[in-house]
Amino acid sequence: MQNLQTVALDDAAKEIVILDQTRLPNDRRMLRLSLPEQFYTAIRKLEVRGAPAIGVFAAYAIYLCACRADGTDRDGFYREFTKQKEYLASSRPTAVNLSWALERMDGVCKDHMSEPIPSILKALKEEAEKIHKEDEDACRQIGENALTLLKKGDGLLTHCNAGALATSGYGTATAAMYLGHERGYDFHIYCDETRPLLQGARLTAYELSAAGMDVMLECDNMVASLMSSGRINAVLVGCDRVAANGDTANKIGTSVVALAAKHYKIPFYVCGPMSSIDPSLASGADIPIEQRSAGEVTSMWYEQPMAPKDIKVYNPAFDVTDHSLITAIVTETGIFYPPYSF
Ligand code: MRU
Repeated sequence: MQNLQTVALDDAAKEIVILDQTRLPNDRRMLRLSLPEQFYTAIRKLEVRGAPAIGVFAAYAIYLCACRADGTDRDGFYREFTKQKEYLASSRPTAVNLSWALERMDGVCKDHMSEPIPSILKALKEEAEKIHKEDEDACRQIGENALTLLKKGDGLLTHCNAGALATSGYGTATAAMYLGHERGYDFHIYCDETRPLLQGARLTAYELSAAGMDVMLECDNMVASLMSSGRINAVLVGCDRVAANGDTANKIGTSVVALAAKHYKIPFYVCGPMSSIDPSLASGADIPIEQRSAGEVTSMWYEQPMAPKDIKVYNPAFDVTDHSLITAIVTETGIFYPPYSF
């Protein structure tokens, strides 16, 4: 697979370097970010996106925010840390990895609060690097676990981008695809284009075809047709937040794919790290769903608007797939089957 360098820390320059995902597949532009407003905007605008990658990015971002607060007294330092943590956490509501990573960094900050500020900063940097490395390891293990559910020659459908671009390594939904490709499984991969932001077309089709896989792209409304043709043996998707009962928030359209898969008796697997599981929420009804701007539906990607001016638009960025539609949830610690107990 190509080295996509989704998120990296340049500690000497006190910058985070990301591959701007809004420009792919046509332009591989790297962004160097150093200011809290730039970190917020990068998440908000999906320059960095995908639940695990957002978590890794947020860990580095709060570390760099803390570096900027150096030189103040300890109380002032922690006040500024908390302010920036809350600011970053407010950038997108659905992926739990964002608040999970920020709270983990907050825990480290509190644990080292009696030490000089340079020691606190050292501990914060080490924790962010640990979160990054853990995500890379989790992706590989998710892939190993998911691969046990698949056979050589399978047709695999995925939605949105839960790939290398959305994580630090092999991706989550794509991890078994990458590992299978390395081991001669000859999978046939089908990517939903994923309206309205086209992560499937722009990102998943891009990264998997660049890795040399057999990839076919289809519009979201072609999924039932594809499944009825008998070409899909399993669906693998990522997740932004999994509630205690297994209800799963993922990119808008995921639940329609799950409903169709149920009808055609195709296994539907959710793949994600344990950091995407939020046992504090009893069910998907409690998961906050991000609403995005109308322009993503009416005019983005087109030379002219494709809907009447001022039309009302419904544009939730995520939906919740009911646990009853999910065959299993594949994490780095193992494969969970219903009834779920994480
Ligand atoms: O809005 P996005 O592009 O951040 O949404 C991403 C998804 O829904 C992914 O499927 C999810 O984050 C899983 S990432 C491994």
